[in-house]
Amino acid sequence: MKFFLDTADVAEIKSLVETGLVDGVTTNPTLIAQSGRRFKDAIAEICALVPGPVSAEVTATDLKGMLEEGRCLAKIASNVTIKVPLTLEGLKACRIFTNEGIKVNVTLCFSAAQAILAAKAGATFISPFIGRLDDIGETGMALIHQIVEIYGNYPTFKTEVLAASVRSPLHVVDAALAGADVVTLPPKVLRQLYNHPLTEKGISSFLADWEKTGQTILE
Ligand code: E4P
Repeated sequence: MKFFLDTADVAEIKSLVETGLVDGVTTNPTLIAQSGRRFKDAIAEICALVPGPVSAEVTATDLKGMLEEGRCLAKIASNVTIKVPLTLEGLKACRIFTNEGIKVNVTLCFSAAQAILAAKAGATFISPFIGRLDDIGETGMALIHQIVEIYGNYPTFKTEVLAASVRSPLHVVDAALAGADVVTLPPKVLRQLYNHPLTEKGISSFLADWEKTGQTILE
């Protein structure tokens, strides 16, 4: 399972890349706005930090605009992945970008039917939004299960399932159980993954007992 970071905060990305756990990054217009950075500068910096795919989202809603913006963003670095919304125009843009050899992340997916269309359009990644479905009283994870199963039925579908809108470590574990190829994590959730009170408690008691031996490992 690949881990992408869901942030445009360059300092956060820099510190978490050092863990060796980060395979890519996803951004969206909201995350760029939160970063306070110029979009293209932030993407260039992130692409230099992370060798894997870095998603940069178009803001045009018509095909011509999406193609212009996507091609402009794709020039920033070879690891830029263009994010397009799951609309008819977005699917058309997806097919064209894919045919041009540009990686595409089809975002804002809320149904299995939409995910089938993204795979047929040649998307590199489909981003079903788990948390936003949970927010409206649906079960976001059920969608991940459906898409993984459907894509598994058709070996010609090469699209990877990227679990997005992740809010908790439980989402990560459940997405892994469902067989998602990628999960994109807010930095806070990545940090929550390794914290466990019993690990902390165990370290304290081991160190207390070790001190009683009076030994040092490097002596
Ligand atoms: C990532 O690609 C998505 O844009 C992001 O995960 C959305 O998360 P949110 O629903 O918490 O805003």
